[in-house]
Amino acid sequence: MPGTCVIGLQWGDEAKGKLVDLLTLDHDLVVRYQGGANAGHTVVAGENTYKLSLIPSGILTPSVRCVIAGGVVINPPACLQEIDGLVSRGIRVADNLLISDRAHVIFPWHMAEDRSLDESTSDGENIGTTQRGIGPCYRDKVGRSYAIRLGDLYRNDIGQRIEHVVTAKNRVIASMHGGEQAEPLDAKTICADYLGYAERLKPYVADSTALLLDAVDADQRILFEGAQGALLDVDHGTFPYVTSSNSSGVGVSSGSGVPGRFIDKVLGVVKAYCTRVGGGPFPTEQSNDIGQRLRDRGNEYGTVTKRPRRCGWFDAVAARYTARLSGVDSLAVMLLDVLSGMDELSICTAYEIDGQRTTNFPSHVDDLRRAVPVFETVPGWQAEITAARSIDDLPDAARGYLDRISELVGRPVEVVSVGPDREQTIFASRAAHTS
Ligand code: IMP
Repeated sequence: MPGTCVIGLQWGDEAKGKLVDLLTLDHDLVVRYQGGANAGHTVVAGENTYKLSLIPSGILTPSVRCVIAGGVVINPPACLQEIDGLVSRGIRVADNLLISDRAHVIFPWHMAEDRSLDESTSDGENIGTTQRGIGPCYRDKVGRSYAIRLGDLYRNDIGQRIEHVVTAKNRVIASMHGGEQAEPLDAKTICADYLGYAERLKPYVADSTALLLDAVDADQRILFEGAQGALLDVDHGTFPYVTSSNSSGVGVSSGSGVPGRFIDKVLGVVKAYCTRVGGGPFPTEQSNDIGQRLRDRGNEYGTVTKRPRRCGWFDAVAARYTARLSGVDSLAVMLLDVLSGMDELSICTAYEIDGQRTTNFPSHVDDLRRAVPVFETVPGWQAEITAARSIDDLPDAARGYLDRISELVGRPVEVVSVGPDREQTIFASRAAHTS
């Protein structure tokens, strides 16, 4: 079974949605397997721009089935809003979307906790979450006692369950407000709302693990769509400045239920530079005119939260680490066009930490904070490249830049994106990495 994964290798927002959309036609199923409505995928199809959060970008292709697997945390009203938005634009969702009954449900208390608890970490900086309740929902999943899964909403005892959780959560929320009177949650209202959502979602809810394992047996082609990026992986990323799921390649199996041995291709997605939203160290960050230029040209503002993204040079140390971690076969380099018009470009080839040079990505955030990037300067190019349709259409300097990234990361470049449209994509036949 050809299982393909699309994994972001940086801090998210690598334009994975465009790539998934392009690859969708070669697959029978497209699967989201971690994260939730903290993700934002923008897909431009002709005149139309779609902004998706929970629903896989594959939904725009009528011939594929889209699956939101058990590893995702689901906010029912946000999901319904997305479904309604797609339907109102003529996209067929009814037979094409399946949502796992194992997916954990985000409730109002998760949002309240996320808003109140995104305070400083022990080293004093905010994580800067998307405030979509993602972390608190995953925390309850792991804690188990106060977790409610989508399938639970269809059980007779759901009223008692919600009552039980709300009683406990009202105590938590009151204590979070330092004893000040916080508006208590009302179990009956929440229950009525969520039963309403559950009724509307019912046609989509099923056992996605069984469906995917059957698809594997039937030799169907599955595309796994990662959300966020590998540097935000809760176990292997820049902890604690991460999201609460396994957003690197290691999360595909746990989130979807499909064993790793059935995945035969991993495409690692990078921007031609780096961005990050929220807190945490970012060694190649450019808090200067260069960063502002990248932000302006790349329209680097969050799809979900609209926050301006922090911008910096391409970090080959980080990308090499996450490419290896995620078992990446080849790279997709996105937004290359954003770099046009710069005389010189810098690529981070190593870090210096306390005077020691290393190409290893540090496991502790304090070490990463002290990492001074070692930059290599390469020539830029002036020409706009948005009309390039083959590698040979690119200026020499752009080809040289891709070759250098490929060499440093240790993977060939397979796809290059030079603009948001589907057509603005180069499938590179030449393998830049030769070792
Ligand atoms: P959370 O996922 O909302 O808990 O946020 C944790 C961290 O991950 C914050 O720094 C967010 O800005 C970041 N984050 C979460 N989702 C995305 C995404 O889709 N793109 C980029 N950053 C994200």
